[in-house]
Amino acid sequence: MLNIAVFGSGSGSNYQAIAEAIAAGRLNARIACVFSDVKEAFILERARKLGHPAIYLDCAPFKTKLDGEAEARAIELIKQHGGDFIALAGFMRIVKPGLLNAFAGRIVNIHPSLLPAFPGLEAGKQALDAGVKETGCTVHFVDSGIDTGPIIVQRKVPVLPDDTVETLMNRIHAQEHIAYPEALRIVAKGM
Ligand code: GAR
Repeated sequence: MLNIAVFGSGSGSNYQAIAEAIAAGRLNARIACVFSDVKEAFILERARKLGHPAIYLDCAPFKTKLDGEAEARAIELIKQHGGDFIALAGFMRIVKPGLLNAFAGRIVNIHPSLLPAFPGLEAGKQALDAGVKETGCTVHFVDSGIDTGPIIVQRKVPVLPDDTVETLMNRIHAQEHIAYPEALRIVAKGM
């Protein structure tokens, strides 16, 4: 069984989808704890409501990565809570070798595009700007690159002629909520 530490910076709808899959018996896993680098992030509120340890992780002095003292603190806290696997769910920081080595092969991420297309920020806007007819989401293992690493699951969505970033992202989000539990099921079977 996976003992999952979730990391997120925002709404936490993917975390909620994972938690619901577990509660419904569709995923044999446990949420060990939930981290956010944003004190007011809704993901922490969701975690408190669902009864999971909700931890604000002050990542200063870094703005775009999890490194140094905060990284060491995260590793320690994950272990304290019995976590043995990490799911990045809208965590808007780059993870560095300290965490990658401590949980080698046991960190996954979700990204709102069909990787390797449109890595990095604003994947929905990138897809619209590129004029593609189809985009989607990807759950993949995390390596030292940005949105690289072996792909576990992808789900596609159409890009419609009158789409805005918001309508497109809503369509992607709905597929993410299916893709993430599905990917974790696949990973759990292989471990
Ligand atoms: C998701 O769309 C996820 O793919 C994206 O952040 C959103 C988080 O939503 N992640 C990235 O862009 C990472 N590069 P959520 O907080 O509602 O789960």
